Amino acid sequence: MNTDSQPTDDLSAGNQSVTSTTGHYRGEAQPLEHDQILILDFGSQTAQLIARRVREQNVFCRLVRHNLSAQRIREINPRGLILSGGPASVYAEGAPQPDPELFDLGIPILGICYGMQVACRSQGARVESADTREFGRSPCRIVDTGRLFADIPDELVVWMSHGDQVHDSGSQFVPLATTDTCPFAAVRHFDKPIYGLQFHPEVTHTDFGGQLLKNFVRDICGCDGAWSISSLVNQQVEQVRKQVGSKRVICGLSGGVDSSVVAALLSRAIGDQLSCIFVDNGLLRHGESKEVQDRFTSHFKTDLHVADARQRFLDELAGVTDPQEKRKIIGRVFIEVFRDEARSIPDADFLAQGTLYPDVIESGANPDGPAATIKTHHNVGGLPDELGFELIEPLRDLFKDEVRQMGETLGLPEHLIWRHPFPGPGLAVRCLGAISEDRLVTLRQADLIVIEELRLAGLYREIQQAFAVLLPVQIVGVMGDDRTYQDTIVVRAVATDDFMTADWFRLPHDVMERISTRITNGVPGVNRVVYDISSKPPSTIEWE
Ligand code: XMP
Repeated sequence: MNTDSQPTDDLSAGNQSVTSTTGHYRGEAQPLEHDQILILDFGSQTAQLIARRVREQNVFCRLVRHNLSAQRIREINPRGLILSGGPASVYAEGAPQPDPELFDLGIPILGICYGMQVACRSQGARVESADTREFGRSPCRIVDTGRLFADIPDELVVWMSHGDQVHDSGSQFVPLATTDTCPFAAVRHFDKPIYGLQFHPEVTHTDFGGQLLKNFVRDICGCDGAWSISSLVNQQVEQVRKQVGSKRVICGLSGGVDSSVVAALLSRAIGDQLSCIFVDNGLLRHGESKEVQDRFTSHFKTDLHVADARQRFLDELAGVTDPQEKRKIIGRVFIEVFRDEARSIPDADFLAQGTLYPDVIESGANPDGPAATIKTHHNVGGLPDELGFELIEPLRDLFKDEVRQMGETLGLPEHLIWRHPFPGPGLAVRCLGAISEDRLVTLRQADLIVIEELRLAGLYREIQQAFAVLLPVQIVGVMGDDRTYQDTIVVRAVATDDFMTADWFRLPHDVMERISTRITNGVPGVNRVVYDISSKPPSTIEWE
């Protein structure tokens, strides 16, 4: 489960993506001043989740390839290794294997599920298919508390998801925990610092999973737990200053959290050497354009360049109804406008962007990192290489929730930090059918009412994404003695962990009623409001 694959509402992943392949690869080359754990990724759905759980213990960690060489690991010098789960059977032909020398480095190792099986097998244990495949919650008994299970009760519920398991520990391993069907639910090697868990401590369904990981990274590996977002801010500020010297940096602002955090960080690091570009495409929600401008001129005093391209976007989108065509046009026009604006800023050598860690992992850009995974992209475009900027990506080690924490540390307002995701093409994909300024005004008014009412009801943070959609059909209604023929607004609100699947949010009826009444009374031209009760799949979150 890739819990961080949610879309960003920012330049980094929107249609307005400003990726440049000329950018220097930066992240992993930097020497680290803090302890770190490496997570060897054997193809687990939860590898990123393991990383987030480790970081919750104030310990930095990175995902790396499952077969990273022992020599490279020695160079990186991590405090510990976690071998992730994975879909293969260890004994299957072609199953992913780590460098066998890994187990003799003396670095503490925790194998999870497949990772445990690989570790145990490398030390002579026998791994076979279990009599019954085990998926879901299982009661587990601790038989040897030791350091791994310190401060954890003797009986707990754990989350299992496996077909194979260790059958015979080859007398190399001490059992630490068992379940009814799994005699080696947790093990420790007799004399090497190798531990294994057949269950998944990283998922919330496992009781005390956080404590278990804490015991491993803090006690067994000896990490000091000094990594924090505020220490990272200081480190990044220093790093950016060193990288940039006295040169100028351009940062694209979208109004979303990622690009705002990048700009706020750079403003702190290099002050007036920063120029921000905000492309106003006219497809933002109520008040957003003004807020970006106020924030990055008054609060953070940056050299803000606003490219007012509202009319240009409208003209280019005139009469276009196909959603993918809309996305393409918006991507292309954004690049053209951004490029022209960037050229008007003399002497800029760097381009800052809000690439996040999940993007780095999924792109396969890190030479030590796991292979690229195929991700469905809504987005097209990217700034052409001809601009020749060197990239600055201060968020490339961070997950989305860590970016939010960084935003808080840098003094960005709460409503911006916790704003629901907003797609790169903006209101264009919520104004179904052809786009016109009048229709955008209608949609903006309705959307504002939806969001205001959710905030008033205290529901905004419980819902991961909510918005209004304007349908391209006219509907019969009645007003006074007259029949009307007007627009319909759809209200969409979803609950989701990862935006890959989503459930429609059960809005209280009185909230629905207030939204409906305010929209039909207050938004000219709308006579009907409907609530979307579809889940994803089979539907999607957006309507286009
Ligand atoms: P769907 O509609 O595919 O959306 O269920 C999943 C998430 O992706 C967002 N989304 C986009 N984000 N550019 C983006 O940057 C796009 O073209 C785009 N289309 C959908 C959507 O808002 C939801 O959060």
